[in-house]
Amino acid sequence: MLRFNRSHLPLNQKMQDFWDINGFLVIEDFYAHEECDKLIYKSEKLINDFDADSVKSIFDTKNQNHVDDNYFLESGDKIRFFFEDKAFDSKGNLINDKKFVINKIGHALHDLDEDFYNFSHRSDLDDIAKKINISKPLLLQSMYIFKQPNIGGEVVCHQDSTFLYTEPESAVGFWVALEDANIDNGCLWVAPGGHKGPLRKLFTKIDNVMTLKTLDNTPFEETTTPLEVKKGSLVLLHGRLPHYSCENTSNKSRHAYTLHVIDGNCKYSSNNWLQRSSMPLQGFV
Ligand code: FE2
Repeated sequence: MLRFNRSHLPLNQKMQDFWDINGFLVIEDFYAHEECDKLIYKSEKLINDFDADSVKSIFDTKNQNHVDDNYFLESGDKIRFFFEDKAFDSKGNLINDKKFVINKIGHALHDLDEDFYNFSHRSDLDDIAKKINISKPLLLQSMYIFKQPNIGGEVVCHQDSTFLYTEPESAVGFWVALEDANIDNGCLWVAPGGHKGPLRKLFTKIDNVMTLKTLDNTPFEETTTPLEVKKGSLVLLHGRLPHYSCENTSNKSRHAYTLHVIDGNCKYSSNNWLQRSSMPLQGFV
């Protein structure tokens, strides 16, 4: 797998070719370790301040438990907290301190928290987005993903455009390793070139009813490539690229931060689960 770094920015031809052929791109050392540490520290503070008893929302992609969960579905313009499916015992009590059993925080960190804002709104990210043909980049959602040691759950194979659909499709994931990611602690796996296949499913919310509709039954291309990346790496993921991540069975966490970006010149579907009526979307700059 080809890897690039800051010296190749803004995206040189080799990077653009790699992106076009593969549907993903790894840029090492994009963020300094100090910048990653600041975000890790801030996530700890947010969790500390969060009253876990007030809500017990679970994020579980295997069972799609959250599809009827208003706490999740109304989180597009908020900072909300979602637990691992193994976070609770049979009586509904947390099995461990909240900071060890949280799955993720989403979905408007990039707009509502100063540190996340500064991490997300940058001209170098804007330059990258424009180089991959997002003519008017808008920051749609952000997630802090914990991938906890021992219980960090699997994220099943999917395409991001299933959940963040525009016409024409434009969603791109900007995924940042806040800690080293490897096979043992549940790194991303991708299907190189799979972004050229069809969109398989579409997740819609119509009249408050959530449906995962099958558009195409073609099996996903094989996710043959683990993206083992170092802390500070930025990974770009095309909205149609099949990708997944395994359970974290190691004793090391794998924190990551993702931003999903769409093109403001494309039509954002009113049937997407994420609607931002209260706060207009902003660009990188
Ligand atoms: Fe994804």
